[in-house]
Amino acid sequence: MMWSQSLLLLAVATYTTAAGYCSVNTLVSNSSWMQFTKEPVPLEYGFENKFKSIHCCVKAYRSIEWFKDGVAYPWSAGVSNLILYPEAANQTLYTQHAARADSGNYTCRTTNETHSSTHTVRLDILEKPLDVPKIMFISKDQWVEEGADLRLYCEALIGRSYLADARSDLRWMKIWPNSTEGDLLPTQSEIKTTRDDVEDIIGSYLNFGRVSAQDYGSYACVIHSNDVVSKNYVTVHYQLAGSSVWSSSGVVAVPWRAVVLCIACVALCAASLAAAHRRCTPRLMLAARQARANRSAAHRARVLEKEFDVLVCWTAVDAELVRGALIPTLSLKYKYRVHAVQISESPDNWYKEIMSEMGRCRSALCVVSPAQYASAPQQLLAAFRQLGALPAPPVVVLLQVQ
Ligand SMILES: *[C@@H]1O[C@H](CO)[C@@H](O)[C@H](O)[C@H]1NC(C)=O
Ligand SMILES: *[C@@H]1O[C@H](CO)[C@@H](O)[C@H](O)[C@H]1NC(C)=O
Ligand SMILES: *[C@@H]1O[C@H](CO)[C@@H](O)[C@H](O)[C@H]1NC(C)=O
Ligand SMILES: *[C@@H]1O[C@H](CO)[C@@H](O)[C@H](O)[C@H]1NC(C)=O
Ligand SMILES: *[C@@H]1O[C@H](CO)[C@@H](O)[C@H](O)[C@H]1NC(C)=O
Ligand SMILES: *[C@@H]1O[C@H](CO)[C@@H](O)[C@H](O)[C@H]1NC(C)=O
Repeated sequence: MMWSQSLLLLAVATYTTAAGYCSVNTLVSNSSWMQFTKEPVPLEYGFENKFKSIHCCVKAYRSIEWFKDGVAYPWSAGVSNLILYPEAANQTLYTQHAARADSGNYTCRTTNETHSSTHTVRLDILEKPLDVPKIMFISKDQWVEEGADLRLYCEALIGRSYLADARSDLRWMKIWPNSTEGDLLPTQSEIKTTRDDVEDIIGSYLNFGRVSAQDYGSYACVIHSNDVVSKNYVTVHYQLAGSSVWSSSGVVAVPWRAVVLCIACVALCAASLAAAHRRCTPRLMLAARQARANRSAAHRARVLEKEFDVLVCWTAVDAELVRGALIPTLSLKYKYRVHAVQISESPDNWYKEIMSEMGRCRSALCVVSPAQYASAPQQLLAAFRQLGALPAPPVVVLLQVQ
């Protein structure tokens, strides 16, 4: 009697932990479509003979199916020992005793009435703990509007601690304009995570709440595992409100993508040259965001009457790069008619300064170095607001000295 009760308790405890993963730290979203409820982790690690669970946390789906290396669930022992956990609405697969042969690609396919989507988790069952940390997930670079909600996530399998005082830790740090790593801002918070199945897997959410001007920039997920330090970087880019991403924007005649890639190249070349002199390595952090363009023929005809193809604006700090690299490239290589306008360092009158010249140009491109406003983030915010207020928001190229 005692035995069966404690076995039952044990079984219940195991099941709750397996079920819990998809119900904690979920993304806040009030849209009701089928979607992931937390960052989908593409790599999973477990150890031989130990408990292991993998997940596909989705909401608003009608059905969910699992495949291992293309073979549909249920699996014979030769394919995988993992079984579905129906109490987690089939979002979780688990095994009490993982085997090397359970390694492989597990794909979940979720469907609603009209769509289906898949997510693949590559599971690696290891014999013994590793010496070096293995990153399992890190958020991609983000393009966000001011005021939007944002969080970043980083998760890794850390190595075993050999020494009593060995430090194993995973944390987010902010990269300051002078390219040193520092503490997060008081408005940013971290939530550390652990897994119930594998204790060597640790993670951390970096919560921004609503993004404000000083949140833009780069962040590092720093993992200490014994003597090994691993750093992975994510950049939070500024996106003008209402602007669309490259793939969905439709300016007809100007190959902006090529232009910006070229600017990136030129900036990098200029940077390496400059580095020789100044021992600094400026890096192009942001390509550009572009305003929605009206594709209609009327609009096209109107813009073609303009005197210049592009208005390029910049402030004194970037004069060398813009005059030496950007403008020659645009005019010589891409044959653009460039109207070059240096604007004042203080952004307060940018709207006026740019507006007075913009009538003569089809489009605008502004080069901004956020570093020059590092000590006064509200200036950077003012700069973005001034640019965002323009009737056709310009392509903004942010340069960061690293
Ligand atoms: C969604 O939630 C946000 C706040 O998180 C709120 O401002 C917005 O109005 C909500 N949208 C809908 C459609 O309920
Ligand atoms: C199904 O999911 C897709 C993607 O999340 C969504 O766009 C679509 O509206 C959903 N269909 C229904 C009927 O809910
Ligand atoms: C979970 O999977 C089982 C077996 O494949 C199936 O009978 C059941 O309907 C599924 N439940 C849900 C909520 O999808
Ligand atoms: C799983 O997928 C990866 C990448 O798609 C591939 O390299 C690997 O060989 C696959 N593993 C198996 C067991 O098929
Ligand atoms: C880098 O900048 C930060 C914040 O602006 C400052 O606290 C730190 O001392 C600087 N580090 C160096 C090496 O200049
Ligand atoms: C594009 O411009 C035309 C007139 O030039 C206008 O009728 C149309 O509504 C505009 N489309 C959008 C999406 O703004």
